[in-house]
Amino acid sequence: MSDLVIVSDDGPIRTVRMNRPDKKNALTVPMYVAMTEAIEGAGSSSAVRCVVIAGAPGAFCAGNDLQDFLDAVARAEGLAAPIVRFLHVLARAGKPLVAAVSGLAVGIGTTMLFHCDHVVAGSDARFVTPFVPLGIVPEAASSLLGPRRLGYARAFELLAMGRPLDAAAAHAAGIVNTVVAPAEVDAAAMKAAREIAALPAEALAAARALLRGPGDEVVKRIDEEAAEFKRRLASPEARAAFEAFLTRKR
Ligand code: COA
Repeated sequence: MSDLVIVSDDGPIRTVRMNRPDKKNALTVPMYVAMTEAIEGAGSSSAVRCVVIAGAPGAFCAGNDLQDFLDAVARAEGLAAPIVRFLHVLARAGKPLVAAVSGLAVGIGTTMLFHCDHVVAGSDARFVTPFVPLGIVPEAASSLLGPRRLGYARAFELLAMGRPLDAAAAHAAGIVNTVVAPAEVDAAAMKAAREIAALPAEALAAARALLRGPGDEVVKRIDEEAAEFKRRLASPEARAAFEAFLTRKR
């Protein structure tokens, strides 16, 4: 298990914390692998009843590592297999997922939230998915779940135009359950996780399966998006956008 992701169990609650604060929690392949193992392992553990996905203060997740995307371009590859596997595991997560979002939630930092059952955000949270501005397309089945969750107009604004949402707007749009002071995000998420973990396990599992519906449609969309993502990664638009970020002057 990489220390870029810290996994800890506290009674029935497993916390999966992204821990690359110097890069604002931009995700690399080993981080996806560690998160996948932790979430999948929770699904098959009778002891774990809820999973909290957390980040660092001010940086929940800056999205996929853009250098990794450039490297994928150089190898003529698309989304790495461990990324797609992570997305499948999110879509089929066997235990409820609670997100604790402090600060930035970029790209997959936002789209992973569509797979979470409960989202707590700090008032400093900022949700942005600059897929099209980067020359790529939405992933994580956000092209399916976004319009369902937000309605088409708001989904287009977020997922195609790349306009950010602040915490209040994300709450109003239905992405976020609760907005709290930034310093209280983790505690509020743990409180929600304990409440969920205390529910009758079998009834909760049955209710959750009904509410989420079969994962097949979501997994199929993840794969369709990944195929388009691969084509877009190879485009001059995407290469220019990634290089511009990585060589930007500050
Ligand atoms: N991939 C690789 N490195 C990233 C990154 C990413 N997605 N996001 C941030 N970083 C790195 C920066 O390059 C910088 O590294 P350095 O200190 O070695 O130069 C470090 O993290 C801090 O980022 P910085 O840009 O200085 O912080 P900021 O607070 O000014 O801005 C962001 C934070 C997240 C708004 C900005 O870094 C950003 O736009 N990142 C790209 C996000 C993105 O497009 N993700 C992919 C979506 S599909």
